[in-house]
Amino acid sequence: MVDDFSLLPALLFITFFFFYYFNQHCSCEKKSSRRPPTKISFFEMVKNKERILEWTTELVLASPTNTITMPYTVVTSNPENIEHILKTNFHNYPKGDDFTAIFSELLGHGILNSDSDRWRLQRKAASHEFSTKNLRSVILDKVRNEFTDRLVPLLSKAAATGASLDLHELLDRLTFDVVCQIVSGVDPASLGYDKDDVGRFIHAYEAVMGVVNQRFDQPCFLWKLQRLLGIGSERRLKENIGDVHEFAMRIVKQRKGRKPEEIRSSNDFLSHFVLNGNSCDEFLRDIIINFVFAGRESTPTAMAWFFWLVSTQPEVEERILDEIDSVRRRHGNPDGNLTLDELREMDYLHAVLSETLRLYPPVALCLRQCAEDDSLPDGTVVKKGWRVIYNSYAMGMMESIWGEDCKEFKPERWLENGVFGPKSPYQFPAFHAGPRTCLGKEMAYILMKVVATSIIERFSFEVSAKEEIKFFSTLKMKGGLPVSVRMKEGKRTSKNGADFVMA
Ligand code: HEM
Ligand SMILES: *[C@@H]1O[C@H](CO)[C@@H](O)[C@H](O)[C@H]1NC(C)=O
Repeated sequence: MVDDFSLLPALLFITFFFFYYFNQHCSCEKKSSRRPPTKISFFEMVKNKERILEWTTELVLASPTNTITMPYTVVTSNPENIEHILKTNFHNYPKGDDFTAIFSELLGHGILNSDSDRWRLQRKAASHEFSTKNLRSVILDKVRNEFTDRLVPLLSKAAATGASLDLHELLDRLTFDVVCQIVSGVDPASLGYDKDDVGRFIHAYEAVMGVVNQRFDQPCFLWKLQRLLGIGSERRLKENIGDVHEFAMRIVKQRKGRKPEEIRSSNDFLSHFVLNGNSCDEFLRDIIINFVFAGRESTPTAMAWFFWLVSTQPEVEERILDEIDSVRRRHGNPDGNLTLDELREMDYLHAVLSETLRLYPPVALCLRQCAEDDSLPDGTVVKKGWRVIYNSYAMGMMESIWGEDCKEFKPERWLENGVFGPKSPYQFPAFHAGPRTCLGKEMAYILMKVVATSIIERFSFEVSAKEEIKFFSTLKMKGGLPVSVRMKEGKRTSKNGADFVMA
């Protein structure tokens, strides 16, 4: 405890004066600009740092332009501002040193944590990987196996014994296994097995994430000083990052150790990078960690909220089952696995998942750093070096985007005559937008649809969790998603009483 806090009061004191001075200083420069957005003082910022998401959400919703200015920081949920930041003036809003420093140990120079040329090269290579023809069927295959071989036994056992399970954790592990296999060709088998090395990796990864999250709450120099002195949480990070790197490095060595023809016939991302030749081990390690991070921090969180929402709305579950029935009928597939085409035709399920992401976007706050002085479309002045954050959680509660019923869970808002209609990504930036838009969006929908349909056809849950959010890099459920499981009796037949009759 001593090393955690001994320096803190003095440092906070210095920080405070530093920020206060600049806050005053900046406001005098702004005489000529248009009406400035709501301004927030450093005092309030410190007071609310434990509830940064809830607090900034209240503020941007109350601001006339949905934008607020804090010392060194702009937070917005204004679609025009977001289009400007993510597309029109993309080059002026890199991730920036603030962000990349926070994630430097975990993500290295990977795609999620780099800018300019280093990012562009990786983006090009990764876009190529995500557009390979058979990627969709590989994903489908992996998720199905994971579901059949690992999740079903766990859920069935819990149903038989009446034990309670943390569904969030199971979904975390399932996603981890799937993404790891697609990216590296190696199956960590984290779901349902208590393997030492995987356990150590997951524990270390979570510990690292804990420290990284604390960094967001502090001015840069404060955590950097702690890191330099090797004290407090920064010491824990140093201890744990080794385990994370070791795990990913073992995958790299395993892959490089295979015979060339074996690598050539594999179709995971890592093999392609190895074949291209010029990638050092650290670079390959960063690739694995970046993709595992991108997939694991977002998709399971979205699925957990999906199951929570569905458990509170039995009529939504009914409609999903009806949709599965009608797709099965149309394709003459009464009880086989659903195919990609069949999943694609499930517009209602697509709407339910999108509605979940609208109300609970995993990446609720997304951070950029301003490269040169600029002003946003609503007149907000942004200075070089400031953090620019968009709040997509707040956007789900904006009447100007979604109408008066914006706070209600209503999948129908996405459907026109039963067909799914997408929303502009600047109004619904759950998957980001512009040149850095999420590469895994389609993969995420396939993964979520397979898991959703497979589970809903066979199991039902009683959920004891309340709606309580915990913002921890992404919008998690506080306390996970504890459920008790029930097995559905037999395969469901059509509601109209008629059984499937194949032509
Ligand atoms: C529901 C699930 C998902 C959501 C909501 C989501 C959301 C996002 C968001 C908001 C970003 C932008 C982050 C930023 O720039 O700060 C992003 C980037 C990215 N996502 Fe996803 N994502 C999801 C699933 C996935 C999956 C399954 C993968 C594949 C493993 C993936 C791969 C990526 C990659 C590689 C980037 C970086 C793109 C770049 O910087 O050029 N995502 N995602
Ligand atoms: C469905 O997929 C699972 C996992 O890939 C497989 O074990 C099972 O045999 C498949 N079922 C049918 C009917 O093809």
